[in-house]
Amino acid sequence: MSNIRVNIRGGAAPPGSLADYLKSVKVKLVTISGKGGVGKSLVTAAVGLGLALRGYRVGILDGDIYGPTIPKLLGVTDSALYVDSKTGKIVPVSGPFGVKVVSIDFMLPSEDTAVIWRGALVTQALRDFISQVDWGSLDVLMVDLPPGTGDAPLTIAQSLQGGIDGSIIVTIPSEISRRIVVKAIDFSRKVQIPVAGIVENMCCFVCPDNGKTYYIFGEGAGKRIAEKAGVPFLGQIPMDPLLSKHLDEGKLHEFLTLDNGTVKHIMSIVDALASKYADKLRQEIKEEKPKRISLMKLPGEDEEQGE
Ligand SMILES: Nc1ncnc2c1ncn2[C@@H]1O[C@H](COP(=O)(O)OP(=O)(O)OP(=O)(O)O)[C@@H](O)[C@H]1O
Ligand SMILES: [Mg+2]
Repeated sequence: MSNIRVNIRGGAAPPGSLADYLKSVKVKLVTISGKGGVGKSLVTAAVGLGLALRGYRVGILDGDIYGPTIPKLLGVTDSALYVDSKTGKIVPVSGPFGVKVVSIDFMLPSEDTAVIWRGALVTQALRDFISQVDWGSLDVLMVDLPPGTGDAPLTIAQSLQGGIDGSIIVTIPSEISRRIVVKAIDFSRKVQIPVAGIVENMCCFVCPDNGKTYYIFGEGAGKRIAEKAGVPFLGQIPMDPLLSKHLDEGKLHEFLTLDNGTVKHIMSIVDALASKYADKLRQEIKEEKPKRISLMKLPGEDEEQGE
């Protein structure tokens, strides 16, 4: 285990803000929840793939170091990260619809390997995933986070200091969840991440036998939670056995091409986010102009000149 190295060339992420490393990413979103197992990773992966289906350039950073699941959901568990010898940077795995993916899972010897690291190493790994990865120009970078408001969300928030455009808060429809959502909103505000909105997962059950939708916990809970908390409601995703099957088989991308109610719900969340950040997504990324380096440099002359 101890031989897993995240940073490359022995050079770890520099101290301080890493926001500059993601200058060519138009919109940065994190998925959070105060509670485990509510569907954060599903939402991250589904929104990421959905945006890619709509033609956006998407990256997904799996920020769950102890329980990485993004590669499994995207069906890319057999892939590996490599370092480009020219740039010295980590090249993300190319997933379905060209989505760029980085996860600690790609560095583990087997999918059953546990990462037994203290918080400082997790912090370092997350910072390396921002600064040592060649994310390139992206429209959207989605960051999947572990449950709660601990080390990982804090590291991401602090490393990008005010550079995160929004948090997607995932909940399930129950009173206990409502309280946890309020905590997640409080966390988001404290670390200066605007709340993009709430996604209610497992809002209801779509019966495979008759296609009917059953609201097991009552209808509209997610919307009410959002209204009470004063944050936007992005939409809901039913508990769907067909979705579950596709997730287990790493075929979420295939599921999203089907014509059914659950896919419509997911794509409406995708569209809500795309229109929320439409202005940013429309903006051109100002690529750094290549710098001309004079080979005839005389002492005292400027080393680099813009074009
Ligand atoms: N709407 C849904 N329909 C069917 N299965 C679902 C749905 N949402 C989530 N699941 C399944 O529930 C499990 C938990 O989902 P997921 O891993 O996305 O949750 P999580 O919040 O990321 O969990 P953790 O807190 O452990 O990171 C997964 O096996 C996923 O496939
Ligand atoms: Mg998860």
